[in-house]
Amino acid sequence: MHAFSSILLLGAVVVQYVLGRPEDARIRRESAILKRSVDSFIEKQTPFSWQRLLCNIGSTGCAASGAAPGVVVASPSKRDPDYWYTWTRDSALVFKGIIDAFVEKYDPALQTQIQNYVISQAKLQSVSNPSGGLSNGLGLGEAKYMVDLTQFTGAWGRPQRDGPPLRAIALMGYAKWLLDNGYTSTAQTVVWPVIKNDLSYSAQYWNQTGFDLWEEVQGSSFFTIVATHRALVEGAALARSLGTSCPACSSIAPQVLCFAQRFWNPNQNYVVSNINGGNGRNGRDANSILASIHNFDPSAGCESLTFQPCSDRALANHKAVVDSFRSIYTINNGIPSNGAVAVGRYSEDVYYNGNPWYLTTLAAAEQLYGALQTWTTQSSITITPLSLPFFQSLVPSATTGTYTPSSPQFTPLLNAVRTYADAFLAIVESRAHPNGSLPEQFDRNTGRPLAAPDLTWSYSAFLTAAARRAGRAPPTWGAASVLGTQLPAGGQCSGHAVAGTYTRATNTVFPPSQTPGTPGPQPTGIPEPEPQPCVDVLVTFEARVTTLWGESVRLVGNVPALGGWRPEAGVLLDAGGYTAGNPVWKAAVVLAAGERVEYKYVVVGADSKVRWEGGGNRGFTVEAGLGGCESTRGDSWQ
Ligand code: NOJ
Ligand code: NOJ
Repeated sequence: MHAFSSILLLGAVVVQYVLGRPEDARIRRESAILKRSVDSFIEKQTPFSWQRLLCNIGSTGCAASGAAPGVVVASPSKRDPDYWYTWTRDSALVFKGIIDAFVEKYDPALQTQIQNYVISQAKLQSVSNPSGGLSNGLGLGEAKYMVDLTQFTGAWGRPQRDGPPLRAIALMGYAKWLLDNGYTSTAQTVVWPVIKNDLSYSAQYWNQTGFDLWEEVQGSSFFTIVATHRALVEGAALARSLGTSCPACSSIAPQVLCFAQRFWNPNQNYVVSNINGGNGRNGRDANSILASIHNFDPSAGCESLTFQPCSDRALANHKAVVDSFRSIYTINNGIPSNGAVAVGRYSEDVYYNGNPWYLTTLAAAEQLYGALQTWTTQSSITITPLSLPFFQSLVPSATTGTYTPSSPQFTPLLNAVRTYADAFLAIVESRAHPNGSLPEQFDRNTGRPLAAPDLTWSYSAFLTAAARRAGRAPPTWGAASVLGTQLPAGGQCSGHAVAGTYTRATNTVFPPSQTPGTPGPQPTGIPEPEPQPCVDVLVTFEARVTTLWGESVRLVGNVPALGGWRPEAGVLLDAGGYTAGNPVWKAAVVLAAGERVEYKYVVVGADSKVRWEGGGNRGFTVEAGLGGCESTRGDSWQ
């Protein structure tokens, strides 16, 4: 019965988009009907999803007998397909959701699961496998293991480098809870050693190719890079609060952030999810939507470097990815170009014939709910030229600008996005098994559920989408700290990596009764390791040069990164901060530490004529500043 009624409702939503006039009473009524229907879906699907999700966790889960404690089985299915394994990625994402829920509301049963997870991962880290062992970290890149924590020796897409950062992110959520509740020594001695291995892996191997989250493409994957960046930023801060440090986290995070920007296609305004591989694809992939939702930080506003859900880039990308599925699935036929549709992994997918997935359709909704949270808490919504097509598809009269609750546009815009998000959930409801169970996929032609039954990740994706819809945000991860980061001009990022140390985490005993408490004093327990010397330094050049309209400034010097004294190969500076009072041109360039660099500025006229500044060459030896592998130079035209 509920499947039928939701399909009718989808029709109603479609009418709304065709009219596109959010003030219309009929639209308000239809959105309200959709909202009520999604409310009631969530009400029954939430307890069911929790129950089924926990069923898939060993050793006591109702569908996981034989799995070790704390082990997340991807799906109870043992054949067609055989998903009776534990994937590092799936498990980390599932536990991230569990830990966020636990942090919101203390629950001793969940705490036991979390402790079991920490212990299981401590053991798993030292299981040698076809990707390698723990001594140099290579084994951490293995994608999946047997459910009894032994290695899987069959052929597979390996390594998959998203596992370690995702696991670090999940575990850091629990370590922070321990700190906040006065259990500092547990965080330091039981959880941190596991996290530290994963952070070491992230800082050491981030710049090497591997398989993407869908286990198919060998190359560089946006989802993996974004997860790595977040883990390193969060790791640097957590290390400090634990009384230790993670120098590699701080020195590598900016390089990873720089590299993440390379996936953006500035001509078509979407993320190319796989680069350095995966060339046969158009690049639009739910990979990037998942990257956005798992990078959501409620304190970071609509910041686009970290691809926040409400950033103009992430919204333009949302539209591009969703649109890429409109015409390829029969079940999306007849839905107008601005209605919610079933979303798959990427349009060229052939796995099980290439179908929409629950977790990707849910992710499309979750990004929008996350965006709505930020707009609501910051009491403003900004439409830029980049996000305008996204908004205009929902509200045709939308124009660029910033709208606050006092403007007549604010509420209709938010309502339109909310209704659009709800319509993705209505699709999930109508395509789920009538009893609410969620496998991996649903048929592109008939809409029937198929592939791995009771996929743990599907339930987790439902629960996190529902949490965002209810206005429950995940804890901040410090994304705001990258605001204003100067990235190297011309996308020159450093590939610098830091060889890490790896130690088996042997302390796996959680003291009893760690119930909510109050934070202890700032710890000093773990001795500070020696900071790693910088190999590369991100040098920011700020030059004050008064220019005329049409002129540009370049930085030219003796090293290849500065064009080898050829002005046309030099670094183009950015005038984004230029004012008449402070005519500053800026660029950040990666240079080798210890290198002797000579340079000058040139002004390039509208007619391409080059004018060199006077005086002798400027010179310096590249050195890191105090805050990490970065430094700044302030110059004025001479
Ligand atoms: C199993 C992987 O998990 C899936 O993502 C992939 O599409 C198929 N193998 C085919 O390679
Ligand atoms: C296939 C998916 O492509 C991959 O992302 C996932 O880890 C495995 N199935 C297990 O769920």
